[in-house]
Amino acid sequence: MQRVFLILFFSLCLWAEDESFITQFEYGRMLYENPRGIGCVSCHGLEGEGREIAIYHNKKGMQILSGGVINNLDYSQFASTLKKGTRVMPRYYLEDSEIRAIHLYLKEMRDFKASSR
Ligand code: HEC
Repeated sequence: MQRVFLILFFSLCLWAEDESFITQFEYGRMLYENPRGIGCVSCHGLEGEGREIAIYHNKKGMQILSGGVINNLDYSQFASTLKKGTRVMPRYYLEDSEIRAIHLYLKEMRDFKASSR
């Protein structure tokens, strides 16, 4: 009887481990969609393809503020802008591993789209 319990216990452990396992890709997506509460998604689009954030007027006339395309950048450019922050974009203080995961997610989404065309 004890044996059965032991076996049951270990298979439950294995199952639980399996459930909590996420890939770099999934981790990247999670971060991209909701880092520190302000998702990159809202300014750069679902897959980093860029999107308009706001339209406003100033002395020069109508202006469009957009979050640029960010799924085609090499890692060093991607990371350096993120670490500095920009005029508009908040600074996130992400870890290198988090930046890598987001970069990988965007790249894989882009490659997937390209290959399924
Ligand atoms: C509030 C809107 C906003 C959010 C949220 C935001 N960004 Fe940005 N991002 C911008 C804007 C706007 C720019 C263009 C530079 C500028 O004008 O400030 C930019 C620029 C960038 C660049 C540089 C693009 C280039 O061509 O060099 C990268 C990389 C980037 N964002 C990644 C991210 C990631 C990753 C996240 C989430 C962690 C994020 N951004 C969240 C607005 C945003």
